[in-house]
Amino acid sequence: MDVKPLKIAQLGNPVLRNVSGNVEKFDLKTLQRLIDNLIYTLNFYNGVGLAAPQVNHPIRLCIIASHPNPRYPDAPTMEPTPMINPQIRPTSTETVKDYEGCLSIPGIRAAVPRYSGVRVSYSDRYGQATVKNYSGFIARIIQHECDHLDGLVFLDRTVSSMDIITEIEYQKLLHSRKNRP
Ligand code: NI
Repeated sequence: MDVKPLKIAQLGNPVLRNVSGNVEKFDLKTLQRLIDNLIYTLNFYNGVGLAAPQVNHPIRLCIIASHPNPRYPDAPTMEPTPMINPQIRPTSTETVKDYEGCLSIPGIRAAVPRYSGVRVSYSDRYGQATVKNYSGFIARIIQHECDHLDGLVFLDRTVSSMDIITEIEYQKLLHSRKNRP
């Protein structure tokens, strides 16, 4: 199979600031190949989610693929799940602030508030309508990736610039959290 890591657009690239268009046709070979390439690419770069505009395809498609890796050692495990034309609705009024990163913004982390639970309606890769509830870290990934489809990045969600830190400081924070008795 022709699968290779795709080049990821970096912050400043206008493609990250577009509102992406809906996917209308599901039977295209190019869409299926793009989904496979997105899954391969996010695994290659230790991501837990990736949106099509991040690889220069301004369409409403993202992959949610939480799993523990060096960038997110405590992430829960799930099957990589392509979501096409996703729509989210919060299932709680509660928001939780926690650190996020983004493959389009390397070296930077920021603590941003997200709803602790969401219901997401989307089409799967074969066009099958699906509705699912998610909470916690996976709900956070979904909100982050859906923002990409609207031209937003996690830095736009920060409450204060004081919540922005470097990857090196974030790794220190992770270790101090872990070593706490
Ligand atoms: Ni991102």
